[in-house]
Amino acid sequence: MSQTAPTVDEISFLDPAIQADPYPAYRTLHKERPVYLMPETGMYMVTKYEDVRDVIKDTDTFSNNLVAMTGMQSGPNIQQELLKEKGWAHVQTLQRTDPPQHDRYRKLLNKVFTGPTVEAIAPRIRTLVDELIDRFIDKGECEYFSEFALPLPGIVIAEQIGLDPSEIKTFKKWADAMLAATQRPLTEEQLREVAETELEAQHHLAKVFEDRRANPRQDIMSGLVQAGGDGFEPFSMHELQNLMHQLITGGYETTTSALCQGMLLLIEHPHLVKRLRDNPDDVDKFVEESLRFRSPVQGLFRQATRDADLNGTHIPKGSVVMVRFAAANRDAEKFDDPDTFDIDREGIAMHVAFGAGVHRCIGMVLAREELRSAYRALVSRLGNFQLKYPDKEPEYETSVFLYPVAKMHVTFDRVS
Ligand code: HEM
Repeated sequence: MSQTAPTVDEISFLDPAIQADPYPAYRTLHKERPVYLMPETGMYMVTKYEDVRDVIKDTDTFSNNLVAMTGMQSGPNIQQELLKEKGWAHVQTLQRTDPPQHDRYRKLLNKVFTGPTVEAIAPRIRTLVDELIDRFIDKGECEYFSEFALPLPGIVIAEQIGLDPSEIKTFKKWADAMLAATQRPLTEEQLREVAETELEAQHHLAKVFEDRRANPRQDIMSGLVQAGGDGFEPFSMHELQNLMHQLITGGYETTTSALCQGMLLLIEHPHLVKRLRDNPDDVDKFVEESLRFRSPVQGLFRQATRDADLNGTHIPKGSVVMVRFAAANRDAEKFDDPDTFDIDREGIAMHVAFGAGVHRCIGMVLAREELRSAYRALVSRLGNFQLKYPDKEPEYETSVFLYPVAKMHVTFDRVS
């Protein structure tokens, strides 16, 4: 990856080369423009650790309710109209709400995500990891993205929403459609297509919700339909649909990206493979440092409800602000030698890869469980990881706010 830092004028976060390796740009912005007005979008990007935390904490000034900024689409919102007509239009829940409205969603969901539900999923995650490795271990190579990093979190969520592992393609189609409109501008035709696909998902989910209401299991869908009480209204079908939308889009590509970046780090730091094999407890440190070092969610959005001043920059009311978690995680004022990958660093879990404050990732217990199980099994069963085409960088999807790898051919030796 390139190490030369661009000048401020050379930076464009719409440039696929910068999206594939944004870190030199972050170094420039930290020094010269910590709050950076992105010329192509008019958004303000916040890159310093303390500034990111200040924005996140001040939910009165920096709102998550981005009604005015419904993605990158212009013109009439055909996607929403179709959803409204034939299914459930998007409503603002959880991530798209501010306190106090957010409190109800969070209190009800915390019970689903930190309790026995995740514990019940853990053994299945370990089995799934082994099954996926079994499928390619004899080949001595795999296309790691499609054979491991994508199916692992995909199947975990797909099973929660009542799909069979063999239906992973259907699940991926649904998840891609749900994410599409937030990732890049779409034509009217594409908007119709993503709406039709999302409708297919919504009608499937509605049936599963009704089934879990009648026949509860120890899974996320059952947890969601049963959530309520303690003075809180249970979720309506409209809310349930929207919450599932967030869990699918929030929990899939993020974990896939983390798994890909983790593998790249094992390739770049081969001595760690044996260390992690011999000391499985160090896998936890590896997980945290890899999330800091190559954060899957590079940044997310807020909207200024009033004029604000941040680190010497004036942000006018109505501006969209992007809190750049990945840049904050490389801030030299917070992390010593931030561009060095060091699993022994102090304060290893101080990163903001899962965000911070009231919107801190609800799925982080599940995500950590998936990442730890994956690396423990990978290093104990395989070793000597290499890129099959070392001269070629892994392929990246374009995205302004995620860090998605698209293809990664990996070779390895079998250890057990
Ligand atoms: C390595 C994997 C993951 C990363 C890096 C990640 C990252 C994040 C970040 C940065 C936020 C904060 C959003 C904000 O401040 O606006 C967040 C929130 C969220 N995440 Fe994750 N996430 C991961 C996995 C998951 C999983 C597995 C799920 C669900 C199954 C999930 C569901 C959510 C939801 C629903 C929110 C919104 C929470 C709220 O607004 O209260 N995430 N995540």
